[in-house]
Amino acid sequence: MPNHWAGQSAASRLSSFAVRMGQLPRWRTSVPIFPAIRSFPVVERYGFVWVWTGDATRADPAKLHHLGWAENPDWAYGGGLYHVNCDYRLMIDNLMDLTHETYVHAGSIGQKEIDESPVSTKTEDNTVVTSRFMNNIMPPPFWAMALRGNHLADDVPVDRWQICRFTPPSHVLIEVGVAHAGKGGYDADPQYKASSVVVDFITPETETSIWYFWGMARNFNPRDKALTASIREGQGKIFSEDLAILESQQRNLLARPARKLLNLNIDAGGVQSRRILDRIIAEERQSPTTEAMPVNR
Ligand SMILES: [Fe+2]
Repeated sequence: MPNHWAGQSAASRLSSFAVRMGQLPRWRTSVPIFPAIRSFPVVERYGFVWVWTGDATRADPAKLHHLGWAENPDWAYGGGLYHVNCDYRLMIDNLMDLTHETYVHAGSIGQKEIDESPVSTKTEDNTVVTSRFMNNIMPPPFWAMALRGNHLADDVPVDRWQICRFTPPSHVLIEVGVAHAGKGGYDADPQYKASSVVVDFITPETETSIWYFWGMARNFNPRDKALTASIREGQGKIFSEDLAILESQQRNLLARPARKLLNLNIDAGGVQSRRILDRIIAEERQSPTTEAMPVNR
């Protein structure tokens, strides 16, 4: 793991410390027998605790991502936290190429049309966007459930979209949804669609482990708590399938260190994201700093 992320290992240890800190008797924070302990700036926002693991004098809350849905009562959020034994970049690869849904999530969000549809990738400054649009297809089970959750027919063709956005250090937000076919797809009137934002915040713990904050923000039927629970349950199962694949990938990489990852065209989103990380890490070795990431929710 590059030096840039060494602070993030500490950051994740800080996560448990930060949670417990408020429960400690005040005197324990000043017991002199402890060696010097580095502290990190944290800020609570959008339901998460964010830590700045770089130069504390450069920590600026204004640099946090703005998450409009987290402050808007017309949106609902449900999510969870998984500990995953993999390099954080493997998770970014996974999220920036959803072709795997066809095979890894065949019983929920996977369908052959994903693999059959072209994906486009573009990079703007430090953001990588991969997008895929599939028109006039039948909704897979997860999206059929979401359509029912928005009181829409679930047995008719739909237009489906996936727009994945990577931003440093390790955030991937994915616009996903379906609309009744022919109503405008991504741009369809809300009455015809079920759409949401898949939230993925990845906090590295070590070179080969992460804390994965996952969830889904939606703006249809936001006050339906049963729907929030159904979506969270479905998502939790889906991400547990990713977890198994990612940990297997990591085990293979550790067992065969001489081998390199094979990058395919469909992996362009992950490749572009890794390039941005490499560049930022190189820059920060000249001028240490880093971005904030969540350590608790
Ligand atoms: Fe997945």
